[in-house]
Amino acid sequence: MDKKKFYITTPIYYPSGTWHLGTCYTTVICDAIARFKRKQGYDVFYLTGTDEHGLKIEQKAKEAGVTPKEYVDKKVANLKSLWDRLKISYDKFIRTTDDYHEAAVQKIFDKLYNQGDIYKGEYEGYYCVPCETHWTKTQLVDGKCPDCGREVGLAKEECYFFRLSKYQDKLINLLEENEEFLLPKPRRREMINNFLRPGLSDLAVTRSSFTWGVPVTFDPKHVIYVWIDALMNYVTALGYGSEDDSLFRKYWPADVHMMGKEIVRFHSIIWPALLMALDIPLPKKVYGHGWLLMGADKISKSKGNIVDPVELSDKYSVDAVRYYLLREIPFGQDGAYTTRAFLSRLNADLANDLGNLVKRTMAMVTKYNGGEIPVWSGKKENTDEEIIKMAESTLEEVSKNMDELYIPEALQAIFRLAQRANKYIDENAPWILVKDEAKKERLNDVLYVLLECIRVSAVLLEAFLPDTAAKIFSHFNGLSEEEKTFDSIRAFGALKAKSVTEQDAIFMRVDVDKEIEAMEKETAKAAEAVPAETEKKEIISIDDFMKVELRVGKVLEAEKMPKTDKLLVMKVAVGAEVRTIVSGIAKYYTPEEMVGKEVVVVANLAPHAFRGVESQGMLLCADDPEAGVVLISPEKVVASGSEVR
Ligand code: MSP
Repeated sequence: MDKKKFYITTPIYYPSGTWHLGTCYTTVICDAIARFKRKQGYDVFYLTGTDEHGLKIEQKAKEAGVTPKEYVDKKVANLKSLWDRLKISYDKFIRTTDDYHEAAVQKIFDKLYNQGDIYKGEYEGYYCVPCETHWTKTQLVDGKCPDCGREVGLAKEECYFFRLSKYQDKLINLLEENEEFLLPKPRRREMINNFLRPGLSDLAVTRSSFTWGVPVTFDPKHVIYVWIDALMNYVTALGYGSEDDSLFRKYWPADVHMMGKEIVRFHSIIWPALLMALDIPLPKKVYGHGWLLMGADKISKSKGNIVDPVELSDKYSVDAVRYYLLREIPFGQDGAYTTRAFLSRLNADLANDLGNLVKRTMAMVTKYNGGEIPVWSGKKENTDEEIIKMAESTLEEVSKNMDELYIPEALQAIFRLAQRANKYIDENAPWILVKDEAKKERLNDVLYVLLECIRVSAVLLEAFLPDTAAKIFSHFNGLSEEEKTFDSIRAFGALKAKSVTEQDAIFMRVDVDKEIEAMEKETAKAAEAVPAETEKKEIISIDDFMKVELRVGKVLEAEKMPKTDKLLVMKVAVGAEVRTIVSGIAKYYTPEEMVGKEVVVVANLAPHAFRGVESQGMLLCADDPEAGVVLISPEKVVASGSEVR
């Protein structure tokens, strides 16, 4: 029999910023759902990717002095390595610069134009570049973008429109009648009351003020609006609009489109309208989760309140980060990140409940039974009934929660089993049973029950914390693949492995206060290390930077400037020229040390006289609060006069 399919998507990410903990939220959530569904036996397709067109990317690339494609290539590589690091098990990564996607978007656009859903007109209104969104005057809040609060620009241009207004009634029906289409529930009301009921305007779907986008085939000075281009990824990734659309036929409609709440409007209004126009079935569910906040603000690059997921995972493990994201924030709501909450979760659940259970049980099996997994008699005493029932019913409880997208609740159910097992150890006190030979069978049963509870927990945890599950499994020698399946945990007692090996704790407890203190010190040090004037400097364009002529030179002679202990006077060869350069490095370098050194010279600086000696340039140095002034030299020998860029 064919497996049931499950298609889940994250939004495609803007490859323009710095990745932070908030960025990882949608992806980690979807990953846990995808892994869980796979374990349930579904044929899962998990899609993520990058949204690479638009004015914002074009501008960023220009600032960096590279082409937009070069710019995004680098960012995409970084993002993919972040996803690898976090064990994101996507099945496909789509880039909107992929040829097949661009071709399909053009085809779709042509179709909509030919059937009259797209028409030519003139746009006049406000535009927020970072959000790539048009706004009318009445939609602005205090004259600023209602989504991000930043300045908007006036825009007036000839462009093509999508007849969004035509779909208004159908969209109201969709949201009113299908309660499952948009979740959690409050988002539905928000869309109906704030956007649909007040009336939809037609949507400007092309731009002609920049070129980095998918050109309109029949009017190539226009590029297709990034949001139209981006939304299409959910079907083009499956081959829609290309020669081979077998994946589309297999997986569409999407079972879940997951995203942050700020982009629900695009997914629950514009996207279904486009699909209606194209006569494509609608996705089954759009879910708008909340934001990860720092204080009261959304974590984001523009707010400068970034928590680095790589740093956190290097320090405390990938699963600590995954667990925090999946467990701490009530799903669907906003949640504020604090280091204290992160570390407390790590301690309470991972180190205490789970880590201790594994450590204590493995130690007892090793000590009391030579590491062998005892044979279970199947007799039930004291609290056995209760814990066994719990172990057998947890899969169902977790599955139910996962179906409803109650992710933290699903994890809570697993950890309740671990907590119950810890209590079971204390109730049955194996260290007392071991002293009485007549209680050997009971001791064996207690140890078996504990090992089985640990296996059940690991099987259930695998979708959420893959590394942790693997670590737990590795304690069991000869554990079969069958013993890692959901089928094997429906009835208690399927553990067949023969022995265990004791290992280091799977999670170390951390001293929360000490860790926070150390982090604060590091932050303070880093802040000190950034010279105040560097922080204050304004952003310059690449053109401004290119005005500075930097060249490699070699110091030929050096001597101290008389009557000062700060300045050195040097003769520096820069290509064929020899220049006199006065530099304030005498406290850090002796004249002897300087001779022969390769240096970087600012070669087009206006000459300046120091104590009557004209300096014809400047040497580049780093200014470190501890090490002092440190000369910048090329990493390899290069020809004198080489340009530095
Ligand atoms: N490119 C658009 C999506 C187009 S989909 C057709 C976009 N990209 S994004 O990079 O800005 O956001 C990607 C995902 O990260 C979104 O789901 C967004 O909500 C999520 N998050 C980014 N910062 C976040 C937090 N601080 N907290 C939770 N999720 C956040 O939007």
